[in-house]
Amino acid sequence: MEITLSAIKADIGGWVGHSVTHPDTLSKAEELMAVARKSGAVIDYRVLHCGDDLQLIMTHHHGEDSEKVHGLAWDIFTACTDVAKGLKLHGAGQDLLADAFSGNVKGMGPGLAEMAIDEREAETVIIFMADKCASGAWNLPLYRMFADPFNTPGLVIAPNLHCGFSFEVHDVMEGKRITFNTPEEIYDMLVFLGSPGHFAVKNVWHRDTGRIAASASTQRLSFMAGRYVGKDDPVCIVRCQGTFPAVGEALEPFSLVNIVEGWMRGSHNGPLMPVGFNNAKCTRFDGPPRVIAAGFQIANGMLIGPSDMFEDVAFDPARQKALQAADMLRSMGPFEPHRLPLDAMEYTTMPEVSARLAARFEPIDDD
Ligand code: F6R
Ligand code: MG
Ligand code: MG
Repeated sequence: MEITLSAIKADIGGWVGHSVTHPDTLSKAEELMAVARKSGAVIDYRVLHCGDDLQLIMTHHHGEDSEKVHGLAWDIFTACTDVAKGLKLHGAGQDLLADAFSGNVKGMGPGLAEMAIDEREAETVIIFMADKCASGAWNLPLYRMFADPFNTPGLVIAPNLHCGFSFEVHDVMEGKRITFNTPEEIYDMLVFLGSPGHFAVKNVWHRDTGRIAASASTQRLSFMAGRYVGKDDPVCIVRCQGTFPAVGEALEPFSLVNIVEGWMRGSHNGPLMPVGFNNAKCTRFDGPPRVIAAGFQIANGMLIGPSDMFEDVAFDPARQKALQAADMLRSMGPFEPHRLPLDAMEYTTMPEVSARLAARFEPIDDD
């Protein structure tokens, strides 16, 4: 059965500050999604949140980039923004960068990961959702899942994974893309993936079958808006089992500390901490950045789940390591590499301060 799985998310207002979504915005989204399911616009849906980001997960028959599905998500975000405004939530409508919907949410603010799939006998997917970080946050975990045999033994010992995967990488600054075949092009690919603020993995494919394996949101909000509007807080869909990594191979990269751009004022490096749904609340220094994992089996388009994959004591050490890294980075205060380089910060006073002090700068006499 051909279906499309869409994960569309937006920050439409936070409670309190940028820490978490308000229950009333979630129930508005739930109410409107229920109407959409009843009308047949979608097969099934789930409304989730990670921190202050509202996540709409939908299955449907309309394919990728469907005006109908994207328009539905936009309308729901707009209605939830009205609820947020009524409660005077912080940053109401923050991620809705356009005044009106025009065919597709791409370039309009919301984050989007979607894939059209031929549903397998057993279709296992995990949807990763992050808050307080930039879209390149998936580069390291996706590399580990699909190209690193120290993470995914299936690449070495499972005949149906041994062919490797290909990675579509986007240059998010220049608007260009390139596809790498792994394992043979790993060294070339890592030159780019190692710079997640500039290059982000968009899609991953299984090389023998050409099947889509993973799809991530790569939207950079600051580039779209030309000004600070909040970090991207990306989402990523990963298919698991069979010709794809096992569930445990897809989750394993999050047992190690991944330092990502984001955190306080979108201007600091911090650890991406894997948490259960109930702990997806960004408090300490507006973070640290969080990631949740919602696991599903899909049955004729129905979402069987979510199972809260990081709500497991096995990820307690990862959380402890992340918190230790948070302490270490925080001790550096306003110094790099905790604070982002000047050109990557979402907030800056540099133009004003340097203009004011320009006359006080003198040439250095090298003699
Ligand atoms: C980071 C984030 C927060 C805000 C901070 C200031 O992505 O959302 O850290 O940047 O709370 O928020 P404003 O400028 O809205 O008062
Ligand atoms: Mg926010
Ligand atoms: Mg957010």
